Amino acid sequence: MNISVVGTGYVGSVTGVSLAEIGHHVICIDIDQQKVLVMNNGQSPIYEPHLEHLMQKNLQSGHLSFTTSYLNGLSSADVVYIAVGTPQLPDGTADLQFIEQAAHDIAFSITQDTIVVMKSTVPVGTNDKIKTIIQEAAASNITIEMVSNPEFLREGSAIHDTFNGDRIVIGAENKRAASVIESINAPFGLPIYHTDLKSAEMIKYASNAFLATKISFINEISAICEKVGANIEDVALGMGKDKRIGEQFLKAGIGYGGSCFPKDTNALVQLAGNNHHDFKLLKSVIEVNNSQQLKLFQKAKETIGDLQGKTIALLGLAFKPNTDDMREAASIPIARSLVEAGAKVVAYDPIAIPNAKGFLPEEVVFKETIEEALIDTDAVFILTEWAEIKEIDLSTFQRLMKSPVVIDGRNCYSLHEVSRFPIHYISIGRPTIISKLVPL
Ligand code: UDX
Repeated sequence: MNISVVGTGYVGSVTGVSLAEIGHHVICIDIDQQKVLVMNNGQSPIYEPHLEHLMQKNLQSGHLSFTTSYLNGLSSADVVYIAVGTPQLPDGTADLQFIEQAAHDIAFSITQDTIVVMKSTVPVGTNDKIKTIIQEAAASNITIEMVSNPEFLREGSAIHDTFNGDRIVIGAENKRAASVIESINAPFGLPIYHTDLKSAEMIKYASNAFLATKISFINEISAICEKVGANIEDVALGMGKDKRIGEQFLKAGIGYGGSCFPKDTNALVQLAGNNHHDFKLLKSVIEVNNSQQLKLFQKAKETIGDLQGKTIALLGLAFKPNTDDMREAASIPIARSLVEAGAKVVAYDPIAIPNAKGFLPEEVVFKETIEEALIDTDAVFILTEWAEIKEIDLSTFQRLMKSPVVIDGRNCYSLHEVSRFPIHYISIGRPTIISKLVPL
């Protein structure tokens, strides 16, 4: 099958490369010349495990190529995937300008009946609108069929998730179009679930909103655990053993970030509001998440007092491990609050520093190793649970810091282990470990 993918961000590049890997001929289109050049040379502009390897393999086999030309990219396409961004507008609604632009570009370049597959996350009803835009702008003898095929990929494991996902959702009004997309996806060997267009669009939003709800719920429980002296790790495990609840997405921390949950929860609240439904539950989920991001800062103030002139290290900056993505990372509001409070902030992340420079206040000083970041600091905030941060020898804090106050937003260390060292240790939803050797 000849497939074109419009947009080569996280979703587009992973989709294009994966479809090539299962045997299709894929051309990915992006307006960014530099990016296309880099990708045609087998280099991935984003950090995503296995992506670059599969990109190189399929470029060499001739199954994959990249172009800036819609005309070249679409001239022999049987199916066109749209995978451009849908960022949020200031009021929280999804900005559809890139989707609409792609729709026009597709309409002017296709030469035959085409199935258009929406991979981007779009508000319910968007696929109908996009079908109308393409149909009206395309040559009159061309028929367009729309299919909604949302992605459920996690950054950092997107390739793995593509080949091992729980389900593939195919939403369509036209049975033939749905069966073409089913046959394209058949080599993945995953369960396929068919729906109408609008239900598929809603499945994506509802899934992300539900996962975000689980996170805010467990974060609220963690706050109560702190007050009553319970341990959130034990509570989450005990809850998660119930199959109806499940163990995943019950990790308390500093709240969810990234390019999807914050944007999609806001968009769903807006979508509900536009349809005269006040989505109170999801509004609370968002509110809890926003306050969760600053809890560590409050804990630091309660422990250390005035932060003016204090040196604070941040370990981990990306919104989660195994990605260099800084979008909506908790490190951003935390770094801002610390700088505003007069603290000197030093920061380390294994790979996100180049991106972080564009997101964090300019006062933040970046360090190349964990050790360099910890030297002579008054406290350290653990913000991303990178393996190398979780594996730190706990004596390092005592050895390098002026005052070993560890404020762990990701519960990286066991309380039992920490208690063997002279460290003042504050984590999420667990009792604080106070060491008499740390003068506070
Ligand atoms: C998410 C969805 O998982 C994916 O299906 C969708 O397509 C895109 O959005 P992603 O944003 O890559 O993927 O990251 P994910 O691993 O889901 O984590 C999102 C955020 O939630 C991170 O900030 C993470 O630290 C946080 N999180 C996750 C928790 O705080 N606790 C948890 O138990 C799980």
